[in-house]
Amino acid sequence: MNDATELAGCVPCRGGMKPVRRGRPQAWHFRVVLLEVGLRVGVACLVLLGVITMAGCTEAGATVAGGNAVRGKRLLYAYDCGSCHVIPGVAEANGTLGPPLGGIGSRYYVAGLLENTPENLKRWIREPQQVEPGGAMPNLGVTVEQAGDMAAYLYTLR
Ligand code: HEC
Repeated sequence: MNDATELAGCVPCRGGMKPVRRGRPQAWHFRVVLLEVGLRVGVACLVLLGVITMAGCTEAGATVAGGNAVRGKRLLYAYDCGSCHVIPGVAEANGTLGPPLGGIGSRYYVAGLLENTPENLKRWIREPQQVEPGGAMPNLGVTVEQAGDMAAYLYTLR
């Protein structure tokens, strides 16, 4: 069968060329096209969803579950962590008593004592005196939630 006969709506059959029954091939073709378009849109959606999820994951991985970096930045200022630490992005954070916190997101240890995981960073922020009794960083009464927010911000400093 060539294109011309197909276009004319004819199919070769035993009795020679006959018109195809009205409507059917077109309808069938239309359904296949629909199915194909549907599949493509579906696949595209899945891929898009995957990319979005992955982007979300890498972002979440760099921060702390439940922590809000924007709030954290404000809290770092409010708790005056900057009186002892240089903290990039936080106003007036230029203290030199403690180590600078720039790059804390890519360090292996917190205060040289704890492996740098979100849980440990939060623990250090909340109770440095329990981790390092007599150390120069005081317990400042930071809540679990606030520590999570602060950690979320600190983990943006890579
Ligand atoms: C009175 C000074 C002081 C204040 C205020 C202070 N820190 Fe510290 N901080 C220190 C010192 C000193 C160290 C170093 C401890 C060590 O390494 O033994 C430290 C260490 C740290 C570390 C680990 C740094 C690293 O390089 O491993 C983090 C994170 C940290 N502080 C966060 C905070 C946060 C958040 C606040 C505010 C809630 C805060 N600090 C307030 C003195 C302070």
